[in-house]
Amino acid sequence: STETVGLLLSRIRDVPDYPKPGVLFKDITPLLADPRAFTALTDALAALCVQHGATKIVGLEARGFILAAPVSVRAGIGFIPVRKAGKLPGATLKQAYELEYGTAEIEVHAEDLGAGDRVLVIDDVLATGGTAGACLELIRRAGAEVAGVAVLMELGFLGGRERLEPALRGAPLDALITV
Ligand code: PRP
Ligand code: MG
Repeated sequence: STETVGLLLSRIRDVPDYPKPGVLFKDITPLLADPRAFTALTDALAALCVQHGATKIVGLEARGFILAAPVSVRAGIGFIPVRKAGKLPGATLKQAYELEYGTAEIEVHAEDLGAGDRVLVIDDVLATGGTAGACLELIRRAGAEVAGVAVLMELGFLGGRERLEPALRGAPLDALITV
């Protein structure tokens, strides 16, 4: 609802010149500290799980974990962590993706996803779409289906939605807020 969007927007703090000059950082810590806003966010994302028929939730380390974990409890479906490489002890699938400078890798436990799973990916921000795109690749390589990608905030001017489009293969990308 517009009421929820207003509440969420009011709890996101703009921090100029962080982490470097010229960048306007969107700080979600005031939202997390406000139980009314955090609950509204959790409820909105849990509703998307139902709407898209998700059977599992993937959270993207690190900020995506904070949002996705309560959603999985609220929705009553499993939480699967996608971690930055080198943090998971079991057999993993690994996927590289482009950063502004260089590349990074994310991993998931291979046994956590498979045929019959419909996975909703949750993160705080969609910027260039690189992280979410790599995650969709991992989900499909594991043999699972993508139910969608849901983010609190989409930075529209960075073109992440367009970049992610082929990887979505028709699955929905929902952003509660677009800036
Ligand atoms: C941030 C943000 C998203 C990602 C979006 O994570 O939380 O996960 O960047 O950028 P992209 O669309 O260009 O891939 P980051 O890895 O910076 O840090 P975090 O560990 O704090 O989540
Ligand atoms: Mg992140």
